[in-house]
Amino acid sequence: MNEPARRAAEMSAAFSARYGNAPQLWTRAPGRVDLMGSHTDYNHGFILSMTIDRDTWVAARPRQDRTVSALSLDLGAETNFSLDAIAPDPEQHWANYVRGMASVLCDAGYPLRGFDALIHTTVPVSAGLSSSAALEMAVGRMFEAVGGFTIDAVELAVLGQRAENHFVGVACGILDQYTSAVGKAGCALLLDARTITSSDAPIADGITVVICDTRTKRELAGSEYGVRRAQCEQGAAYFARRYPDVTHLRDVSFERFEAHAAELPDAVARRCRYILEENARVPALAAALTAGDHIAIHQLTAASFAGARDLYEITIPEMEIMLKTMLAAPGCIAARQAGAGFGGCMAAFVIKERIEPFVDFVANTYTSGAGIEPRIYPVQPSPGASRFTPPAA
Ligand code: GLA
Repeated sequence: MNEPARRAAEMSAAFSARYGNAPQLWTRAPGRVDLMGSHTDYNHGFILSMTIDRDTWVAARPRQDRTVSALSLDLGAETNFSLDAIAPDPEQHWANYVRGMASVLCDAGYPLRGFDALIHTTVPVSAGLSSSAALEMAVGRMFEAVGGFTIDAVELAVLGQRAENHFVGVACGILDQYTSAVGKAGCALLLDARTITSSDAPIADGITVVICDTRTKRELAGSEYGVRRAQCEQGAAYFARRYPDVTHLRDVSFERFEAHAAELPDAVARRCRYILEENARVPALAAALTAGDHIAIHQLTAASFAGARDLYEITIPEMEIMLKTMLAAPGCIAARQAGAGFGGCMAAFVIKERIEPFVDFVANTYTSGAGIEPRIYPVQPSPGASRFTPPAA
């Protein structure tokens, strides 16, 4: 049995064991990796982002009442709630992605119906690959399938972000949900976080994205993420007072920035400089990846990591060890941070034929350097959140 068929069979068996019958509907949504544009999304900037071929599956069966029951196969935990009284679960954090999607879809007027569901994911959790967005988007598509309505992918992403911001309580931007909802097989996305639109960004044949997880803890909620966001808003507000066309750092040109940089508190000036530079690197990297320009890819990613370390200050020592390791590995074209930083996953661009020696080298060298065994995932872009028919055994 191939892997997807085995996965579907295991989920069906677990579903029957719990609910006494077979699932009728299936949805899936992928995790994501950002290739350029760290922290630019909440500044209304650009991001080069890609879905990965690791995803969350939801198998479900409609119910006659307004109860939602969801069992996580990975966690062995279950959440149950009524669509008429959707409140956060104080004990089970994961359950709030399910409840949050129900809440925002209900508020947006979609006709929700109850269901029994089983959830399984192959997206590494708490690693910066957006397992939470994958769960939100897969659950959102399941509410759509069971409720018999249709929802546009961009709207689903916006509602997912709303669930995360207002229900779960994480002040994230649009990047994760957008990529998981809209992403495509075969290419990355060049996302404009202001207009919430994207264009396809193909990657030249022969270049593979390899995710290397530092396996160091990263906390997004209540962490430095909020501090960075506030510093960017402070910078944007300073320019907005002087230039009426400015609402976000996206609107601040290098020229205006240099004219006022010295007037800003030092940390705010460095955060702003990084965002301006990082934003400019996004279309440049998209072009370089499409053209297969190894030198430009290397230079842009190196500058991105240096800025993340020196200006935005979102790196930790294990990320430096991982960066050096990836860059020294066979077949490596370039490497940088991914996600919010502060540990978690990083991304390398690797020559396709050299993936095996790259993986071996990084596994051995990072383990001896950092004292932690990394996890390494060569990835391919996969389709965005959708309903699907599970492969037969
Ligand atoms: C997290 C957030 C995103 C984005 C990135 C940093 O993944 O959820 O919205 O801000 O960090 O680019």
